Amino acid sequence: MLSSGIALARRMLFEVRRDVAAARQRDPAAREASTLEIVLTWPGIHAMLAHRVAHALSDARIPLAPRLVALVARTLTAIEIHPAAQIGEGLFIDHGAGVVIGETAQIGANVTLYQGVTLGGTGFASGKRHPTVEDNVTIGSGAKLLGPIRVGHGAKIGANTVVINDVPPNTTVVGNPGHPVRVEGRRPEGPDTDWIHLPDPIAEAIEALAARIGALEEALGDAGAGTAANARNGKASGARASAHPPKPRKGRNPVGG
Ligand SMILES: CC(C)(COP(=O)(O)OP(=O)(O)OC[C@H]1O[C@@H](n2cnc3c(N)ncnc32)[C@H](O)[C@@H]1OP(=O)(O)O)[C@@H](O)C(=O)NCCC(=O)NCCS
Repeated sequence: MLSSGIALARRMLFEVRRDVAAARQRDPAAREASTLEIVLTWPGIHAMLAHRVAHALSDARIPLAPRLVALVARTLTAIEIHPAAQIGEGLFIDHGAGVVIGETAQIGANVTLYQGVTLGGTGFASGKRHPTVEDNVTIGSGAKLLGPIRVGHGAKIGANTVVINDVPPNTTVVGNPGHPVRVEGRRPEGPDTDWIHLPDPIAEAIEALAARIGALEEALGDAGAGTAANARNGKASGARASAHPPKPRKGRNPVGG
């Protein structure tokens, strides 16, 4: 009993040391701070400590306690991690507020999350419904990763990106919807990489309808001899309605890139 207690304390000490090392490595603000300062005041460190406890209790199938631990951690740090989420070594959550990590999320080693990141599900699906994030991934502030997608190792997700598809390894993805802007450090090339001139099916449909109405108006104009008599009798409805095709959008594409 005593030896297992000592082993647990050792493991926790080792994990806290690794968390502090991750903070020093990836947060410039932590480089000058003492270990005590980081342990006492970095919310990402507190969230990870609490998650390890909650996860162990959840693994042991103890009711209620895991969620209570997660709730207390959330109240103190504004970081919400489901007790069942699987998190690898060296996760660093910078600033933290607004981070949500769902029940079936899986996170590899040395991953960095900034504030406002969501690893969430879509809809009410059950089973595996949250993202899997491989090793050495960086996810920028406000990014939303939704569904059981896989983010390959070494990928970077830009701030405020919305990712709903798999991300290949060593790829930088930005925008909404998230699209690759760097693959292995180079701009992607080829016909599928033009994210600026996206097809707009609604504008195309309106354009087709406008052309159709124009053609009908012309046909009615040809048959106007008949309607001219009505107009003389005061039955005409005045000016004919005209339809103009929509003008092409100008300026920067809001999809980003
Ligand atoms: C995406 C990111 C990781 C940079 O990755 P990178 O591989 O070094 O990519 P680059 O900086 O070369 O940018 C690649 C392209 O994406 C664009 N881009 C970068 N970040 C973007 C973002 N968040 N949204 C939209 N476009 C972005 C760049 O302008 C560049 O465009 P270009 O191809 O037209 O030149 C970084 O920009 C980012 O968003 N980091 C998150 C940082 C953060 O959240 N900090 C919070 C601290 S509190």
